[in-house]
Amino acid sequence: MLGEPFASSPFVVGKSRPAETALPIPIEESLCPVVSHAWVNAEYKHLVVEASPKALAVHPGQFFNLLCPSPDVGELFFRRPQSVYRIDRKRGRIEFLYKCVGRGTRGLATLQKGDDLNMVGPLGQGFSLDPAWRHIVVLGRGVGIATLGPISQLTRENNVGVTAILSARNADFVMADTLFREAGDVVSVLDSDGTSAVENVESILDRLVAQKRADAFFTCGSNRLFALMKRIGKAHNIPGQVAMEQVMACGLGPCYVCVRTFEVNGVKELRRVCIDGPVFDMQEAVGW
Ligand SMILES: Cc1cc2nc3c(=O)[nH]c(=O)nc-3n(C[C@H](O)[C@H](O)[C@H](O)COP(=O)(O)OP(=O)(O)OC[C@H]3O[C@@H](n4cnc5c(N)ncnc54)[C@H](O)[C@@H]3O)c2cc1C
Ligand code: FES
Repeated sequence: MLGEPFASSPFVVGKSRPAETALPIPIEESLCPVVSHAWVNAEYKHLVVEASPKALAVHPGQFFNLLCPSPDVGELFFRRPQSVYRIDRKRGRIEFLYKCVGRGTRGLATLQKGDDLNMVGPLGQGFSLDPAWRHIVVLGRGVGIATLGPISQLTRENNVGVTAILSARNADFVMADTLFREAGDVVSVLDSDGTSAVENVESILDRLVAQKRADAFFTCGSNRLFALMKRIGKAHNIPGQVAMEQVMACGLGPCYVCVRTFEVNGVKELRRVCIDGPVFDMQEAVGW
């Protein structure tokens, strides 16, 4: 009927009524007003938006495919995937923490308070906690820390202890420490003082295993740290989950741009990071 929204028109936060786009699918395109958008250090920005009810159902480890404004006169063809960093269901907000690396994220960085962010999601498979786990270990570096951030919420909601080992170039790039401090313990390891060396991280992990504070491992953001956790996890039979970073196009399954190789019981398998992941079993994932 004339004037009716298309089934495919985006959900406009603050304007659309849930019934208008209540298709029986959990994913939608939505226009989300920017609440705040600030630099946290020289490379990363923290973006807070008002989110739709469907977007607020996002689970830690899932992501949204964001339509970034162009930073110049050229067009930006593809959306850019960004994990959810924090979910504030009480205030109806979703937060992202992202690194400005190229045209997409430079364009994203131009959004001002009150602008609309066009996002598609929530997408992919997120992190999960086994009810038997009492204390878990999170190990992240760089943009991986943004992806691991909401595990702090998951552990608090499930009354599970967490030690977060946050690896960074220097103290300026240690992020999500406030979130994890509210949930458990934080150990920062830095390039600037040498504590981020694999041998040192290994001894921290060994100590946590010996103290029985490592029922499960979670990692994202560094191939060498992933390889380390995978090795220690295998040696001690500790289950683990890794969030994979992979260049994506559609983010929805059909284009196969994001395929990676996995190894399941010695057999190689191809999986799409966007819909089969981005979170995978650590022992089945293969480094990049
Ligand atoms: C599921 C998922 C979740 C992500 N979550 C976050 C997040 O929470 N915070 C964050 O800062 N970044 C995150 N990323 C990475 C983010 O998508 C890329 O940094 C972004 O797409 C780069 O776009 P660009 O146009 O600015 O850079 P481009 O010009 O496209 O690329 C610049 C550089 O970034 C690298 N790059 C591009 N796309 C990706 C990608 N998908 N993954 C890794 N490196 C990439 C390129 O190889 C190149 O070196 C995530 C990626 C995935 C797949
Ligand atoms: S990004 Fe298109 S199938 Fe994964």
